Amino acid sequence: MKLFSLDERLLTCAGLVQKSARLADIGSDHAYLPVWLLKSGRIESAIASDIGEKPLQSGRLTAEKYGARNIEFRLGSGLSTISSDDNITDIVIAGMGGEVIADILSHSELVKNPGLNLILQPMTRSDDLIGFLYENGFDIKEQKALSSKGRYYTVMLVRYSGKRLSVSSVFKIVGKLDLTEEESVKYINKHIRNLENKSRGDESAKRLLNELRSMINEKN
Ligand SMILES: C[S@@+](CC[C@H](N)C(=O)[O-])C[C@H]1O[C@@H](n2cnc3c(N)ncnc32)[C@H](O)[C@@H]1O
Repeated sequence: MKLFSLDERLLTCAGLVQKSARLADIGSDHAYLPVWLLKSGRIESAIASDIGEKPLQSGRLTAEKYGARNIEFRLGSGLSTISSDDNITDIVIAGMGGEVIADILSHSELVKNPGLNLILQPMTRSDDLIGFLYENGFDIKEQKALSSKGRYYTVMLVRYSGKRLSVSSVFKIVGKLDLTEEESVKYINKHIRNLENKSRGDESAKRLLNELRSMINEKN
């Protein structure tokens, strides 16, 4: 069976997974990401984990259809399905709200390991997630933005540093995006448009808007 293509969003997540990783894909659903990484020879083995039996079953079908071995399916919430004995090197948590991702991280001791790569892709509330990450000792090592079919996404490569920081409202939106990249500018402009709708009469939102606008203008 010819291998399928990943969409831009999952492809960006895949691009941040280390070569030869032992991967845990949390909230794996259809398991496209681990099956694609395994079948294209980029990783050695994977655990696909999901809170729902139905999504897990759909993941099993994908693995079967494309003949992906070295993939284990586990049922349960968040990182409760993974132990240190699994020797995971990379964890992907994609396609969920920023608050759900933060909740999953907050319930795991395993993620407090500076050697572990966390690849996070929030569908909403990325600002809340970034705030959570820095308040809880995580650091964004690399961040990308992309747009696909009229939607805007960000993907972050995160590691635990143990250093807790309080970050500004601007940083919660911009994070470590490279503002010389067109996709980053599009992503920030989308936040600017959302804020313009919300900021009427709200002085702190207006200040935030002005800061974001001048950052974009300075870089371009
Ligand atoms: C929209 S799908 C995303 C699938 C895939 N990760 C992607 O990005 O395309 C979200 C999946 O996360 C699962 N999920 C939601 N909350 C979860 C949790 N706390 N722990 C594990 N899985 C969860 C859902 O059952 C669903 O299958």
